[in-house]
Amino acid sequence: MTTTRSAATEPATSEPITVPPFAVISGAQVQHALLERENQIVELVEATYRLHSAGESVNPPSCFLRFPDRPSCRIIALPASIGGQVRVDGLKWISSFPENVAAGIPRASAVLILNDHDTGYPFACLESSIISATRTAALAASAADWLSRGRRRPRRVGFFAVGLIARYIHTFLAATGWSFDEIGVHDLSADSATGFRGYLERLGTASRIAVHDRAEQLIRSGDLVVFATVAGQPHVSDLSWFAHNPLVLHVSLRDLAPEIVLASTNIVDDIEHCLKAGTSPHLAEQLTGNRDFLHGTLDDVMAGRVRVPAERPVVFSPFGLGVLDLAVGKYVYDEVVRSGELHVVDDYFHELLRYG
Ligand SMILES: NC(=O)c1ccc[n+]([C@@H]2O[C@H](COP(=O)([O-])OP(=O)(O)OC[C@H]3O[C@@H](n4cnc5c(N)ncnc54)[C@H](O)[C@@H]3O)[C@@H](O)[C@H]2O)c1
Repeated sequence: MTTTRSAATEPATSEPITVPPFAVISGAQVQHALLERENQIVELVEATYRLHSAGESVNPPSCFLRFPDRPSCRIIALPASIGGQVRVDGLKWISSFPENVAAGIPRASAVLILNDHDTGYPFACLESSIISATRTAALAASAADWLSRGRRRPRRVGFFAVGLIARYIHTFLAATGWSFDEIGVHDLSADSATGFRGYLERLGTASRIAVHDRAEQLIRSGDLVVFATVAGQPHVSDLSWFAHNPLVLHVSLRDLAPEIVLASTNIVDDIEHCLKAGTSPHLAEQLTGNRDFLHGTLDDVMAGRVRVPAERPVVFSPFGLGVLDLAVGKYVYDEVVRSGELHVVDDYFHELLRYG
């Protein structure tokens, strides 16, 4: 492997078309490129999301690989293409193996492939669990901001399950100006709850930390509730727990029974994506036979087309869009190129002469 600048970031205009060099970007490089850039990343993710909503992306349905012998596991392929100034295509390939956590390694692992706009050649492979958590947390922080406009800004956040995604969402909320009187924590695993509490204490948070054994306590005590479980089926069905009309970031997508969905204002990132794969909104659609319970997308709210009433719970269900991974991945790639630390794999593409 050598370290070099890449041709893939040079303007494409009058350059002859050539095979780009192929680079590998490690998790350490990804993390370094994203460190303390939360506000910039929220802007990037919001801009990419708006581009997507305006139809300036290609983002086919995610493809789920599931296994009869390992029903709790899956690997998802998210292909995507961004036009405009960014001009990059690619694929996120992300595994979820929940039992990993008991063995002391993260549930999710991922790669992101970036493909060159002009030749289609893949030009980079990036460690992508960090990119995925980052884009998820950035959109969640953005949604918390947009969806709490016009209602009392939440002062008590409750994290319903506290793995890696909850930690990233907390980081993005804190970095984008949120502060809380109380941070509630609930997890089926006492180790996870203790670990998250320890993380908050090491940060020196000024918020009171409350660990709740019961799900009901967590929900009732939060005006912002973040679901980040690995539940495959709804496990929260008591509407009275939501009587205080919280803002719910339903990041794990499958926690709420359809009855809760139907009694709430529902905002999604993308309607066609979100009403698939057994998400709670998908179950609500199957139950009612229609989509009347959907109030709109986050883009509708950002553009002022949809108003979020204060007198019902608000549930934001983000399916997660490959274009956002692609945008954050390209940002990381450009940062690594700029730093002169791009590790190119020499001779990666090797059969280049048509007739030998
Ligand atoms: N919507 C998106 O764009 C998006 C993106 C990334 C991840 N996610 C989802 O976020 C979720 C969390 O991911 P992670 O990497 O933090 O997982 P993780 O394995 O690190 O943590 C999950 C935690 O959930 C807890 N948990 C599981 N079921 C629970 C329940 N019923 N009640 C309370 N706690 C429970 C576990 O004990 C664990 O601590 C996953 O479902 C993942 O698919 C969504």
